[in-house]
Amino acid sequence: MTDLIAEDLAARFLRAGGARPLLFRAPGRVNLIGEHTDYNDGFVLPAALGLGTVVAVAPRSDRLLRMESAAFSGVAEFDLDAPAPRPRGDWTDYVRGVAVVLERMGNRLTGANLMIASDLPMGAGLSASASLEVVTGLALAAVSDIAIDATALALLCQRAENEFVGARCGVMDQFVSCNARQGCALLLDCRSLDFRAIPVDPQATLVVCDTMVRHSIAAGEYNLRREQCEAAAATLAGVLDGVTALRDVTREQLDEHASLLPETVFRRARHVVSENARTLAAARALESGDHAECGRLMNASHESLRDDFEVSCAELDLLVDAARRLPGVYGARMMGGGFGGCTINLVEAEVADNFAESVAETFRRATGATPPVFRCSPGPGAGRVLLREDAR
Ligand code: GLA
Repeated sequence: MTDLIAEDLAARFLRAGGARPLLFRAPGRVNLIGEHTDYNDGFVLPAALGLGTVVAVAPRSDRLLRMESAAFSGVAEFDLDAPAPRPRGDWTDYVRGVAVVLERMGNRLTGANLMIASDLPMGAGLSASASLEVVTGLALAAVSDIAIDATALALLCQRAENEFVGARCGVMDQFVSCNARQGCALLLDCRSLDFRAIPVDPQATLVVCDTMVRHSIAAGEYNLRREQCEAAAATLAGVLDGVTALRDVTREQLDEHASLLPETVFRRARHVVSENARTLAAARALESGDHAECGRLMNASHESLRDDFEVSCAELDLLVDAARRLPGVYGARMMGGGFGGCTINLVEAEVADNFAESVAETFRRATGATPPVFRCSPGPGAGRVLLREDAR
């Protein structure tokens, strides 16, 4: 898929009068379990999709970034010497944010022409924006001759999103886009950034169902959840030694000090603390081939996100309920920030096609809309794309 996009992009770049470009790709992601834990220094279990964002890039002799994207629609120019660049509230912020952060880190960038394409659905919670940041980072570093490793790239892209775009996201999406391993999910410790690649047995298929709901309240609610988690950690740090984030709190400690927290904040914390435990247990279950247990933990994750963290919505709940009624389904839950986007389902490989049809049909009968449903096998992390011409 990506290779076809890259070939097409290279051809368009040349037709537009550009020099032979370098090509890079960065994937979107799914997350098996570990939701709203990354910014609490906790654990996540994401995997890269085969879908992603591709960029064709060639250096310029001036300090302009000229960016063009069919997927994100439009052309824009950005002067790297412009004083105090500000976000514009569109897709170009992800490109410009990465450029701004690279320069803030002391690098001097060369101007560049960037042509961008993507086969990721936008705003579906599959990290199209993180993949755009990562692919931009690779492209700009390459044309400016800057050496950067995968983890440093992930952190700088997260910083671009936090400091420039203005979303206080954690590191999960950028990290897995940079570091994913083919056929595996990554058990990532979001504090130390240590990770372990865990093979996903092809007998258990990951299926994504898209509600097609793109809620605009999501960003405000996301930042609010983050503040509530930080408030809980700060209160608990007053009575417990060694607590800097909810990652450091056990379920027993949380229950013991529940009276110190407002009821809503307590439930937010209960989600995070229990989700960290579920994520570690799910990684062990996946490793030992216990798909039933992994699915059970995914189901419990959904309940916790719906009832304690309150980031689900009717369409997500509908897809999850529909999925769980079908044969061969180990587990189903909402995925990502919430309030729309996609569910992730762990399904027996043999029934995955039937599952996809049946779940889409149930959703269509209830809502009138047919949701995109697709199987995914974990792909590799971001990198250069070499076309046949490049190999010659
Ligand atoms: C979004 C953020 C991630 C993470 C998830 C929720 O995808 O970008 O950092 O917090 O939501 O798990």
